[in-house]
Amino acid sequence: MNRKKIALIGGGQIGGVLAQLIARRQLGDVMMYDIVEDLPQGKTLDIAEASRIDGFDVKVQGTNDYKDIDGADLVIITAGLPRKPGMSRDDLLTTNAKIMKSVAEGVKEHAPDAIVIIISNPLDAMVTLFQKITGFPHNRVMGQAGVLDSSRFSTFIAWELGVSVKDVNAMVLGGHGDTMVPIVRYANVNGIPVMELLERKYGDKAKAQEVMDAMVQRTKKAGGEVVALLKTGSAFYSPASAATAMAEAIIYDEKRLLPVCAYLQGEFGVDGYYVGVPAVLGATGVEKVIDFELDETEQAAFDNSVNAVKKLVADMERLGF
Ligand code: APR
Repeated sequence: MNRKKIALIGGGQIGGVLAQLIARRQLGDVMMYDIVEDLPQGKTLDIAEASRIDGFDVKVQGTNDYKDIDGADLVIITAGLPRKPGMSRDDLLTTNAKIMKSVAEGVKEHAPDAIVIIISNPLDAMVTLFQKITGFPHNRVMGQAGVLDSSRFSTFIAWELGVSVKDVNAMVLGGHGDTMVPIVRYANVNGIPVMELLERKYGDKAKAQEVMDAMVQRTKKAGGEVVALLKTGSAFYSPASAATAMAEAIIYDEKRLLPVCAYLQGEFGVDGYYVGVPAVLGATGVEKVIDFELDETEQAAFDNSVNAVKKLVADMERLGF
């Protein structure tokens, strides 16, 4: 098997962790692009010099020239400003749309056959804009949000129940904003519903619900919680981990069913928008969106989240993008 070429557009906090994770897992040769002179070269040199210790043979290089991403199989985009305390992801719209426009043009010219994972916020709008500019088929353009939001939800459940997070399955759907939708009904520990385990723990349905509600709220605000603590930027280890899991699913054609910001064509009652939904990830990117029946409350929350995405996309169009 030929080694894959993975281009990272953005060599900031997330880009750096991504490069290291990808190298350690030997998913492919890494080419990190950033507009800041010497930054991607410096970061990748630092990572590459640990190759003897970490035991990887893949190349890890940096550039300020889009030509060097030529022929990339996979592109992961983190270019754009992160949040500062008090900001919502949507506050980044104008600045990051400008950046995304230039990134989309560069990727379109130099990596026209790549599968693309976007992490830059506001996520759903950035994915929409990138696809619009490149015209890439929808299955090759997706966003990372749900894998991380679901991991956050699963982590809180594991802490609450005192079980290994490896046995927790919980999914977060919808847009990657304050309206995201943690799916409580199907959250389980090796098949046992989390709600049942909470009811047994507290011996009281109302208390179990209260504890779950608090975990749902913490999940929705988890990105902001990290921003408030870091003060200088937003989460970067966990978004990099999440995108690496998606990259791995694509490179090894794993057919993993993951929550992904994918293009909907009628699924979940939505047509023509990018929103977080379960999807099968394999060698061709988003191979299938997995539609399933939401109950009334979940559907209402999902619709509310889709409306927030629609508003964001409309705002972006009004700004001329
Ligand atoms: N082309 C390429 N890179 C760019 C461009 C551009 N036009 N404009 C800015 N960058 C680079 C910056 O130079 C910086 O190195 O993007 C990088 C962003 O890195 P950080 O500021 O460290 O942000 P990070 O924490 O990595 O988050 C990146 O992901 O989760 C989202 O909200 C987050 O939008 C933010 C993005």
